[in-house]
Amino acid sequence: RLAAGEGEILTVAVARAHRRQGLGWQLIDAVLRELHAQRAEALFLEVDETNTPAIALYRRLGFRQVGQRPNYYRSTEHGPTGALVMRRDLR
Ligand SMILES: CC(C)(COP(=O)(O)OP(=O)(O)OC[C@H]1O[C@@H](n2cnc3c(N)ncnc32)[C@H](O)[C@@H]1OP(=O)(O)O)[C@@H](O)C(=O)NCCC(=O)NCCS
Repeated sequence: RLAAGEGEILTVAVARAHRRQGLGWQLIDAVLRELHAQRAEALFLEVDETNTPAIALYRRLGFRQVGQRPNYYRSTEHGPTGALVMRRDLR
């Protein structure tokens, strides 16, 4: 979603059998291009701090951590886990 110049990714997923083929990167890169075209300032997302694949992908795409929410995800197999808030500048 996009509001007041700030985009936010609510959900992104690639089917298990098709992971690690560049599709996640392409999906978010397409969002970044669209937001550039709309002159947005930044793109935000939240990610479970234990989600290593997603965090690696976001870092490669230029996201940096700007916040942390302890015990944000409550019904995970590891018990409650925190969320990282990440931001990618667009200007
Ligand atoms: C996160 C997710 C969308 C990544 O999609 P993907 O299509 O597999 O990612 P890509 O193939 O585009 O990966 C691009 C880069 O991200 C990093 N990356 C992706 N998966 C990784 C993994 N399992 N371990 C380490 N790095 C990983 C790598 O740097 C990778 O580049 P490389 O393959 O050249 O090393 C996918 O794992 C997924 O759907 N996960 C379940 C849902 C989810 O957690 N969504 C995010 C919620 S916030």
